[in-house]
Amino acid sequence: METNRLSPKIAQALNDQMTNEAHNAQIYLAYASWAADKGYDGISNFLFRHANEERNHMMKFLEYILKRGAKVVIASIPAPGPDPLSVNDCFEKVFQSEVENTTKIYAIVDLSMAEKDWATWNFIQWFVKEQTEEETLALDLLSKIKVAGGANAKNDALYQLDMELKNTPDDATLAQDVTVEKP
Ligand code: FEO
Repeated sequence: METNRLSPKIAQALNDQMTNEAHNAQIYLAYASWAADKGYDGISNFLFRHANEERNHMMKFLEYILKRGAKVVIASIPAPGPDPLSVNDCFEKVFQSEVENTTKIYAIVDLSMAEKDWATWNFIQWFVKEQTEEETLALDLLSKIKVAGGANAKNDALYQLDMELKNTPDDATLAQDVTVEKP
């Protein structure tokens, strides 16, 4: 009796995305370690927390593949790439990486629609919303560094930014959650 509810193409796409999320975690771990080494403990703390979020994303794909009766394939994780050159470069790379991840999530939306796999379509909507949040969070980081002077930010501005990021929440507020009373 066939108990696998995922097509080979969708199972492959979900397994690939599971590895992508593990790769995203490695990127945040690498940048967090770079920031700690440079003395930016607040930025490092923020990035370490975010690495955990990416591992959680990886687990959601893993669990979904299992629950749909398909095979989980644990593959090697690509290296995170070179260290950032500066805090500005770090935040630009974070944003770029999130945008690239959104493109991959949208490709799974397309595939689930093409195959009329509505369970997968429903599952992946969680990630569509999550990517909007992640891009918003990354854009907020870019705005903060811009205010601090962007690529030319001075040490005192970077110090303030570092202090602030230690307590920055992990989630950004989405436009649909904003009200007139609470803009
Ligand atoms: Fe799981 Fe930041 O994307």
